[in-house]
Amino acid sequence: MSILNVEHLTHGFGDRAIFNDVSFRLLKGEHIGLVGANGEGKSTFMNIVTGKLMPDEGKVEWAKNVRVGYLDQHSTLTKGMTIESVLKSAFAWLFELEENMNQICDRLGEAEPDEMDAMMEELGVIQDTLTMHDFYIIDAKVEEVARALGLLDLGLSHDVTDLSGGQRMKVLLAKLLLEKPDILLLDEPTNYLDAEHIAWLKRYLQEYENAFILISHDIPFLNDVVNIIYHMENQRLDRYVGDYDKFQEVYEVKKSQLEAAYRKQQQEISELKDFVARNKARVATRNMAMSRQKKLDKNGCHRACCGASEAGI
Ligand SMILES: Nc1ncnc2c1ncn2[C@@H]1O[C@H](COP(=O)(O)OP(=O)(O)O)[C@@H](O)[C@H]1O
Ligand SMILES: [Mg+2]
Repeated sequence: MSILNVEHLTHGFGDRAIFNDVSFRLLKGEHIGLVGANGEGKSTFMNIVTGKLMPDEGKVEWAKNVRVGYLDQHSTLTKGMTIESVLKSAFAWLFELEENMNQICDRLGEAEPDEMDAMMEELGVIQDTLTMHDFYIIDAKVEEVARALGLLDLGLSHDVTDLSGGQRMKVLLAKLLLEKPDILLLDEPTNYLDAEHIAWLKRYLQEYENAFILISHDIPFLNDVVNIIYHMENQRLDRYVGDYDKFQEVYEVKKSQLEAAYRKQQQEISELKDFVARNKARVATRNMAMSRQKKLDKNGCHRACCGASEAGI
């Protein structure tokens, strides 16, 4: 089943074309590496699929009820928010459910017997959802991820506006991972992580049961976590099954085939040009010869000394 379907995507900025009729499909559980040279349009692609940017043409379709998590570098972190409160906000929807559950409990006392059954059933469903999504171990979960990304050492009560740019990115990444979306979109996450945090993120992504699209220039990292590569080049997006090394292998073969085909085509073009040139010359000399012949005929002179033999006829 496809989670995300992009068809006939075309986009440009002014007269700079970025995508030309690109199609893309993301299936459940796929771990995708999105690669390509700087400026090819990887971040633009993320902005288009998350709806931040409207493409010039094309269709972007998400499956119903898909929760998408995007590490937005411009997320607002305001004064008064602590590392802990930001991380816990990953579970905001569960806190709302709990609130809902408490309200039902309050009303239970005055409920009619026939209403009571329905209310008890609803309570059961909410309780199951809370348990299934680790609601009762949120503190432990928050601590686990905060420790893994080196945030625990800063102190969970630290105001987020006092953090450095790199530390803020870690907080946003930690929150995103705690949300555990159906699809995780990561744009160069290793840029602001130290080696030990990269190692932890690597293991985390290897075990991630949901899908993700990862933009990264860190090749060993990509090799360890992805099983599909999408390569962006010349306004195209090509899919390769396997890790980054596998992609490189197939891409090199494809590139040398294309180059050989190009060289062959150039050779054919030059041979054709040569042929045309030679025949043009032949036609020209023949015409020249014929006109000379005519001239000769007119003058009653049939000797080769008039130049026809020099023209090679
Ligand atoms: N909002 C924008 N307005 C104009 N040009 C843009 C905008 N965003 C990106 N670009 C240009 O589009 C190209 C692709 O950018 P980007 O998607 O950031 O590439 P990548 O992430 O692959 O390095 C670059 O040439 C960039 O300068
Ligand atoms: Mg980018």
